[in-house]
Amino acid sequence: MISPRGLLGTARLSLGLAAAAAAGAHARAPAAPAVAAAMAPARLAQPLLLTQVRHKTFRKTPTKAYKKRKAWIESLKAKGEPLPQQEYPVLENKFWKVVGNMKIYKSVSPGSTNRRHATRFHLHKGSAVWRLSVGKRSTGGRNRTGRITVRHRGGGHKKRIRNVDFMRTVPGPCEVVRLEYDPNRSGELCLLRHLPTNEFSYIIRPQGVNTGDILNSYRSGIPEPAEGQQPIPRSQLVKVGNCMMLKDIPVGTQIHCIGLHPGGRAQLCRSAGTSGQLLFTDNEGMAQVRLSSSEVRLIPVEACATIGAVGNELHMHRNWGKAGARRRKGWRPVVRGIAMSAHAHPHGGGSKSKGNKAPRSIWGWKTKGWKTVRRKRWFLVTPKWSAKNK
Ligand SMILES: *[C@@H]1O[C@H](CO)[C@@H](O)[C@H](O)[C@H]1NC(C)=O
Ligand SMILES: *[C@@H]1O[C@H](CO)[C@@H](O)[C@H](O)[C@H]1NC(C)=O
Repeated sequence: MISPRGLLGTARLSLGLAAAAAAGAHARAPAAPAVAAAMAPARLAQPLLLTQVRHKTFRKTPTKAYKKRKAWIESLKAKGEPLPQQEYPVLENKFWKVVGNMKIYKSVSPGSTNRRHATRFHLHKGSAVWRLSVGKRSTGGRNRTGRITVRHRGGGHKKRIRNVDFMRTVPGPCEVVRLEYDPNRSGELCLLRHLPTNEFSYIIRPQGVNTGDILNSYRSGIPEPAEGQQPIPRSQLVKVGNCMMLKDIPVGTQIHCIGLHPGGRAQLCRSAGTSGQLLFTDNEGMAQVRLSSSEVRLIPVEACATIGAVGNELHMHRNWGKAGARRRKGWRPVVRGIAMSAHAHPHGGGSKSKGNKAPRSIWGWKTKGWKTVRRKRWFLVTPKWSAKNK
């Protein structure tokens, strides 16, 4: 019997060998299919086990309270007395309370006053699956030559970027193994286990999907029923979290993770609580989707979307509480133009006024009351400014 650790070692090794072989093939001739063929069997030959994706959370230095409680539980065990049953999650303590699904911090210090965010009790406490994530190199908003090209970036906690599966190409049932936090987006993630092959992947968590649910991807079309079998019932097909082409989705359905091209990845409606609505679809040509900005746009009917809305919808009600919380997310302070000096901003200089000038951006163009999308585009049915004026 191979231990999970040993299996992991062999998997790494075989992946390494495959990569080396692929590199060799590449050096001789630019044969992309050969590279893919060399990689594919190695990945399938070593399916991941559930034990390999469970990460422990390590407490580096046990706190005093933790040690005290542990000693107390040990003493209870020694005496043979029943252990205390802690109800979970705790809904209130000295520092915060849970109201609805929001964790609201009590005013014990200026920074915790008004601080609130959606609860995260349901999320996995350990780190991400290592082979589905990669460490992020932070740029501080600088480009390759070292000049600031994006303002207000820098600092912040170290992040691991999760490789989210925006394609959902693999058909077949997937089980939701656990729900996870993602530092790089406002939504949450589901860790999926593909039941036939035991492959793991991340998707954005749709509203109402929970651990143990079975999700499907009908991206390559709805399968034909075999001889003498009933077709898949509609309630099972059009289920929250299933992915399918726009032409297979009933009109009026709420969708998210919407692709823009046949065979392309999900690009629209991916942040917390957002969704679009399918207004029109056909067997070929273009479908019409109303996006959250109330813009109606044309999308090829072969493009894919996931049923439902993105989860973590309470994200819009969060309050950071203090500037330092934003700094830890990697955002630097934003200063008003009026508070700058004359060389730094068109509003700068003088005292307390921008001197009867029309509002301008830092680069000099007029900034309030302008349409930002001027051109009439072929894919816009109702542009957002005209939809909003109705
Ligand atoms: C980096 O940004 C500076 C300032 O905008 C620009 O002059 C330079 O060409 C940029 N370098 C690259 C490699 O894009
Ligand atoms: C982080 O997420 C955003 C979408 O929210 C995405 O555009 C960006 O590429 C992600 N960053 C990385 C490094 O993957």
